[in-house]
Amino acid sequence: MAEQRVLAVTGASSGIGRALARQAARAGFAVVAIARRAERLAQLEADIVAAGGACAILAMDVRDARAPAAIVAAALRRFGRLDVLVHNAGMGAPGTLLAQTDAAIEAQWQTHVAAPIRITREALPALRAARGQIFLVGSGLARVPAPGYGAYCAAKAAVRAAATQLRRELRADGIAVTYVDPGIADTEFAEASGTPRISPASFAVPAERVASRILRAVASRPARVNAVPWQTAAVTLGEWFPRLADLAMPAPPATLPATAPAPSAPEPAARTPANDLELALAPVARRMERVNLPLAFVAALLQPETELQLSEVAMRWAGMPNKNERAAMAEVLETLAGAGFLARTGEERWRVLRAPG
Ligand SMILES: NC(=O)c1ccc[n+]([C@@H]2O[C@H](COP(=O)([O-])OP(=O)(O)OC[C@H]3O[C@@H](n4cnc5c(N)ncnc54)[C@H](OP(=O)(O)O)[C@@H]3O)[C@@H](O)[C@H]2O)c1
Repeated sequence: MAEQRVLAVTGASSGIGRALARQAARAGFAVVAIARRAERLAQLEADIVAAGGACAILAMDVRDARAPAAIVAAALRRFGRLDVLVHNAGMGAPGTLLAQTDAAIEAQWQTHVAAPIRITREALPALRAARGQIFLVGSGLARVPAPGYGAYCAAKAAVRAAATQLRRELRADGIAVTYVDPGIADTEFAEASGTPRISPASFAVPAERVASRILRAVASRPARVNAVPWQTAAVTLGEWFPRLADLAMPAPPATLPATAPAPSAPEPAARTPANDLELALAPVARRMERVNLPLAFVAALLQPETELQLSEVAMRWAGMPNKNERAAMAEVLETLAGAGFLARTGEERWRVLRAPG
């Protein structure tokens, strides 16, 4: 009997990744499902197993330096091989490009580009052995960037370039590399990221449809999957006729952080202390919500000239913080440093430069 093939997918706790995990299991693949939300993954595993499929889950941030080894080990130890690796995990970055904090820019690069490269490097021997396949999930915004999407468009453009380069570099190894343009899919993406919608909700297709296009491409091993061809065609037109695309683009919503005003521009509306801090923390707002880290707690930390030490602050907030809570607090403090509220003074230490407002 032929050995069961193995598909690993990142971002499997919702949307396209979750739909793909389910469909792949139904199609006979053993699935390795990766994302940060453990409870969502546990539910996915239970569903797949109840339907007679095989699934291993890994609750992990793809940016974690341990993720590549952990993902490959999960596939090899549990199922003995790895055939298909789908880099799907992703999140948006609300705000204009120049209003992005260093942490937000870094998060986009790490999640969409650096992590997939690191994971692929680790998976290379297994993929070579299986004459396997890699998918990189991109976006129409890689080709037609829109205002208000922060560093996401540039990161996705890099994903597209990396997919083409890897396809050429890995051809001799018998590994296929496929770039996916998912079109607009009805998922948690916009809500989770706080990014604007650039098209009517009626344009969105079900995540299951995108997943089925990806799965179908496992057999045909194409260079590209255009999950919603008419949307890719519209993107192509936008790329070929940039002036027309300029006209069709919405202005960045007024509630998003503004870039520096021109000298003759009227004074911007005064920022309140609350929204000043909220804007700075926008890139990590979802993370804070997930770990229940209140904005008020962060605001209270910002007493100018005081010193903040990661462990001490995390304990003040969570009592006995777990790894996830500690990492979330570190990300928040780094984001505040990127926004000029804090200055890093040492390993896991910061000095407060200013209070909100
Ligand atoms: N929906 C669209 O219209 C659309 C359009 C173009 C491109 N895309 C791309 O399609 C992919 C899937 O998005 P989606 O629409 O299905 O959105 P989604 O429902 O929000 O799913 C995103 C998934 O990525 C995971 N994720 C995010 N950051 C992660 C990290 N650092 N480590 C591990 N997992 C992470 C999330 O899980 P946890 O939060 O549990 O970690 C979640 O499972 C993304 O790459 C997105 O950029 C989507």
